[in-house]
Amino acid sequence: MNYDFKEIKKGEKHLEAYTFLDLYTTSDGESFQLYKKAGMRIEGIREAQDRLPSSLYIKRDDAIREVRMLQQEMNNELDRLMGQESPPVESTRVLIEDAIEVAADGLKELFQLNEKAPEKTAEVLGGIKNITESVVSKCFDDRIFLENMLTVARTDFNTFQHSIQVAMYAMVYSMHQGIVFRELQPLVLAAMMHDIGVVFLPEKTVQSTSKFSKDDYEQMQRHPKLGHEVLRDAFDDPRIARVSLEHHERLDGSGYPIGHNVLHEWSQLVGMIEVFDGMVGWRSYRAAPGPIEAIKVLVKMANNGEVSKPLVDAFCTSLVGKMIV
Ligand SMILES: [Fe+2]
Ligand SMILES: [Fe+2]
Repeated sequence: MNYDFKEIKKGEKHLEAYTFLDLYTTSDGESFQLYKKAGMRIEGIREAQDRLPSSLYIKRDDAIREVRMLQQEMNNELDRLMGQESPPVESTRVLIEDAIEVAADGLKELFQLNEKAPEKTAEVLGGIKNITESVVSKCFDDRIFLENMLTVARTDFNTFQHSIQVAMYAMVYSMHQGIVFRELQPLVLAAMMHDIGVVFLPEKTVQSTSKFSKDDYEQMQRHPKLGHEVLRDAFDDPRIARVSLEHHERLDGSGYPIGHNVLHEWSQLVGMIEVFDGMVGWRSYRAAPGPIEAIKVLVKMANNGEVSKPLVDAFCTSLVGKMIV
C-alpha cells in the first residue's frame, strides 16, 4: 500500500472543501474528480497510482496542509456565526448535522459488509439517522453541550468529527441491544463529549500530523481527567463525566490515566469504539487500516482481556450482522 496518498471516496464531505481550495478538478460532466497539486499534470498522478479515473486521491503532505487550512476556514466561519447568535444553536446544529451525514456515509460502507441483508442498508441507516437526529435535537436544549461541541470543533475538527462518529456507532450498538430511548440521550451526550479534555491540551499535540512524540503522548494522557473535571461539574448524570475519565482505561488495568479495571459499561463501549473509529478513519500520519482490520484488533484486545468479549461480539454484530473474523 502506498502511504503517500490518501484515497478520497466520491461523495466525501471534505470534497467540497477541497474544491473550494482548488486542489482538485472535475470532468466537464462532473462524472469524476481528480486530485491535482497546483501545477501538476493530472494524468501523471493517475498513471503513477494506476487508479481508475473515478478515484480521487490527495498527496499526504497536501492533505495535512489542507487539514490546517480547513480548520482555519472552519474557525472563521464559526466566529462569523457565533457573532450572530447567542447561544449559537443554529451554528452548532449545522456543524453536527453535517458531521452526522459524514458518519452515516461511513456506516453505509460498514453495513455493506453484511452480506445477509445489504438491501436493508438504506432502511436501517435511515432509521439510525432519524433517531440520532431526534436524540441530538434534544441535546440542543443544553447550552453547555452546545458550547462544548463548538469548542471541540474550534480546537480540532478531526476530533469533532470523531466525536460524532463515536456517538453514532454507540447509537447503532444501543439500538441493536434494545436500549430504551430515554437512555440514548445521556449516552449520546457522553459519547459526543468524551474527548472534551483535548481542548485544554497544547495545539501542537491536538493537531499533530505525525506520530506522537513522548511529550505529545504524555500530554494526550491528561485529556480523560481534564474532561472528567469539566463534565462532572456541568452535568447531573455522573455517567457523562465517567465516560470521559474511563474511555482509555482497560479491563486488565493496562489503560490510562489511572489503570482502573472496574469500568462503567458506557466507558467500555466508548473505549472500544474509540479504538475502532481510530482505525477506520484516516489519520494524517498513516493510512486507515479499515473496518476488517479494526475488528481484528478488537477481537485481539478481547482475547487479551483488555475489553469485554461479549461487548466486542455484540458491537461487531450490530454493525455487520455477525462476527466476521
Ligand atoms: Fe480520548
Ligand atoms: Fe476519542
